[in-house]
Amino acid sequence: MCGIVGIAARRDVVGNLIYGLKALEYRGYDSAGIALITDQGLTRLRAKGKVAELEQLQQQHSVQGHTGIAHTRWATHGVPAERNAHPMTSRDEIAVVHNGIIENHAELRDELRAKGYDFTSETDTEVIAHLVHAEKAAGKDLLDAVLTVVRRLHGAYAIAVLSLQDPGRVIGARKGSPMVMGLGDGEHYIASDIHALLPITRRFVYLEEGDVAEITIERARVFDIHGVEQQRKVKEAHFSADAVERGEYRHYMLKEIHEQPVAVADTLEGRLLDGQILTGIFGPQAVQLLKQTEAVQFVACGSSYHASMVAKYWIEALARIPVSVEIASEYRYRDPVVPKNTLLVTVSQSGETADTLAALRMAKSLGYLAELAICNVPESSLVRESALCLMTRAGPEIGVASTKAFVTQLTALLLLALELGRQHGLDATRYRDGVTQLEHLPQAVADALKLDPEIRVLAERFASKHHALFLGRGRQFPIAMEGALKLKEISYIHAEAYPAGELKHGPLALVDEDMPVIAVAPNDHLLEKLKSNIEEVRARGGQLIVFADKSVSRGITHPQETLLELEPCGELIAPIVFTIPLQLLSYHVAVLKGTDVDQPRNLAKSVTVE
Ligand code: G6P
Repeated sequence: MCGIVGIAARRDVVGNLIYGLKALEYRGYDSAGIALITDQGLTRLRAKGKVAELEQLQQQHSVQGHTGIAHTRWATHGVPAERNAHPMTSRDEIAVVHNGIIENHAELRDELRAKGYDFTSETDTEVIAHLVHAEKAAGKDLLDAVLTVVRRLHGAYAIAVLSLQDPGRVIGARKGSPMVMGLGDGEHYIASDIHALLPITRRFVYLEEGDVAEITIERARVFDIHGVEQQRKVKEAHFSADAVERGEYRHYMLKEIHEQPVAVADTLEGRLLDGQILTGIFGPQAVQLLKQTEAVQFVACGSSYHASMVAKYWIEALARIPVSVEIASEYRYRDPVVPKNTLLVTVSQSGETADTLAALRMAKSLGYLAELAICNVPESSLVRESALCLMTRAGPEIGVASTKAFVTQLTALLLLALELGRQHGLDATRYRDGVTQLEHLPQAVADALKLDPEIRVLAERFASKHHALFLGRGRQFPIAMEGALKLKEISYIHAEAYPAGELKHGPLALVDEDMPVIAVAPNDHLLEKLKSNIEEVRARGGQLIVFADKSVSRGITHPQETLLELEPCGELIAPIVFTIPLQLLSYHVAVLKGTDVDQPRNLAKSVTVE
């Protein structure tokens, strides 16, 4: 989604602003812009499309400036077009960039029109620029003007504001959308995501809900929404700009797929010892709370929702506790009934997904036992607002389509399922076997990656397809859903997943000799059932592609069909291992189709609006 960078310095900051926008490209966007204080006044450049187009424009005009704000926009109000790209300006004196949605923009627009302000865009953001201008024109200082304006905004925002009369100063504010302040030496920064600033600083202050930040050349200060100065902790970022470089890989997604053995090992690092899960990895009070837990409610979106679905199978089998899983955008508008001692678990890579956050906030008044966040970003709102958390430690994920974040979520969720199992009478042998399987996981993921050359060949048969069906049973059904989602997201092929037993209730009507049907066949208690479903597809002439555990693959396919064999692995970790070939398949199909693999059309990495 949208990205923000702002810098106040004594030197030309254009290069760093453009770098910051490029670092935020992964979030998904459709236009970009920059505003600077230059010798000519407040200069603004905007371009539809990629940041590279904005950069070209900047080079043509050789614009330079020592204070500036920049933005990548993912359209919500108003089509992707230059006129709707941020920064929005007011009377060439105020420039504003904004992430989020201002819900009361229509009434503010009417009020501003009555005061003589003209609107040049369809965005909700333009009202902020004019409101700040009006407050300044009434005599307020820039900081006071922004404080007054944000109190009037309904909805979600992270903003950065620049004023011609205030060179060397940028004001930021957040509510509902993330924002950090970066600390430099004789210069200061603001951004919606630390990646934008990593080459220039590793020291950050994470703004809290309602905070307003003032950065100048000399100092960086934070105020609450009432204008009272606040002391916020300075945090050091643990990874450098290199961690978000693509290196030798053609795409971030490919890099992230190949990072998975290490990512999974990082998720497990320091959490297993002598065949046991270390107590307290979910937080100090967790041991008691997990013991008390009588039911679990998962809430998540996208791939995180699929990971939660797998967790339902694991927890119900290992801990014998009922589990419900719901998409956050549905859950938040329901009137859920919460059984006694239910643990709420939110799962999110970013920890900033608007619907998941809203669901967490709503759930807090519903009497859950506690909230646990399974998340990849330690400083995220979701983690900060949850009583318990388990970090997935995938490292920065840049490709919009989730790969290593999903696989590390699954790893963290299997830890949770085994821990709940231990607290709820899971037989010691099964518990130990589960931990042993987890210990083997990094190797099992590395083995699965070896299928890459075969999958690349298989992908050639897919590139001309318009539809695909993914089948799985039990814990592999959500993995089939994730496989279908990956294919849709990056190759734009329509793909659907079904529990294989459901085939005959509808989807079988779609099967003919043109329809690729991908089945996920691990060595589990449902294998024989799956084989019958494969027969149903075969009988209708579907093009069968089966990913099977090598130890049970004999006879599962016929000679004209495709069989890809995975090394045998434990039943519990099989959903994680079988995810890998499906990621590789969608990756290679997308490359053959020539789509924008890392930034697929219309999608965003972190969906911070509803
Ligand atoms: C977007 C991303 C998906 C992700 C989903 C949930 O749609 O493109 O990859 O699964 O958001 O994001 P979260 O950060 O909450 O896991």
